[in-house]
Amino acid sequence: MSKISDIKEKIKSIKDPVSNLSFQESSAIKHVGIDEESNTVMFVVEVEKKNPDVMKELTREIAKVVKIDMGYKGIKIDFVEKKVEKSGPKTILIASGKGGVGKSTVTANLAYAMMRLGKRIAIIDADVYGANMPKILGGTGHQLLGNKDGKIYPFEKDGIQMVSTEYLVEKNRALLLRGPMLNKVLKLFFEDTLWTGEIDYFLVDLPPGTGDIMLDMRTFIDDAKMVLVTTPQANASHIAIKAGYAAKDLGHEILGVIENMSYYEIQGEKHYIFGQGGGKEVADELMVELLEQLPIVPSNTSIYSESDIAGIHYLNLAHQIMKLVK
Ligand SMILES: Nc1ncnc2c1ncn2[C@@H]1O[C@H](COP(=O)(O)OP(=O)(O)O)[C@@H](O)[C@H]1O
Ligand SMILES: [Mg+2]
Repeated sequence: MSKISDIKEKIKSIKDPVSNLSFQESSAIKHVGIDEESNTVMFVVEVEKKNPDVMKELTREIAKVVKIDMGYKGIKIDFVEKKVEKSGPKTILIASGKGGVGKSTVTANLAYAMMRLGKRIAIIDADVYGANMPKILGGTGHQLLGNKDGKIYPFEKDGIQMVSTEYLVEKNRALLLRGPMLNKVLKLFFEDTLWTGEIDYFLVDLPPGTGDIMLDMRTFIDDAKMVLVTTPQANASHIAIKAGYAAKDLGHEILGVIENMSYYEIQGEKHYIFGQGGGKEVADELMVELLEQLPIVPSNTSIYSESDIAGIHYLNLAHQIMKLVK
């Protein structure tokens, strides 16, 4: 374990006296760094309000662990106040390091689960290299209609509205975008789409990787939250960690991690076909929660019904995400 992970691990159960949530639960530790020369550990800690008593108490608790138990010479803590959340639609970015881990499947099923919980959902399929939301929702071949002002109308299925980069390219052609073009596509989706009615949550299916799109996204949404999808395998989780750090550096708040294809269940017994631990590793490293472990479901339908075992997992996931985004 790296020194930083070790420190994060040891302080994670310290509780904020106001919210009574541990650092682990509240994700209040925004940064940990070590100044080797002075043997000092530096922290950025998020608090509701910069209350001197609270800051003193947290400083004391952190010092107890880091100086007394762990033997570091000093600590330096920057307290930052939590941003007040705006009302109106919330945007959730669904990201992964690797492709093929189930990012689009998760996006679509999360949309259905949230809709089943009474929310109005729009999906933005921004996976510019492998857009497949139309296939999952059954909207391939749909023509995006525009009006004379250059606005577009989304595709709609079961009350879920969706736009996709697939609709911007000729059939079976990949969309290869450079920076400025990518920005145009995002502008079309974020500013020039005529959604019907009010939307509660925008779910954005991002391309895999740590690329430009995370940066571009900030031009349009400065308070998007992100969930990271991984599989239990180390090759997926290691890239997910990198993607997570890249997102954090750009100021995207990470809500948590979803481990997909976690196990295959036969007659009540779980078989960990792809190994174990990838999701937890990503969550621990990024100091966020592992929100769900989704089973492997051999099925030719991509959307699970709410009575399927997978559908129930998605309802739980939707609940958790909605609680965190509030
Ligand atoms: N939990 C699961 N069980 C079984 N198959 C899955 C599961 N999640 C995704 N898949 C399948 O894996 C493939 C890749 O999923 P997809 O959502 O397209 O990944 P990504 O968007 O990350 O590239 C698809 O064929 C999908 O149906
Ligand atoms: Mg995809």
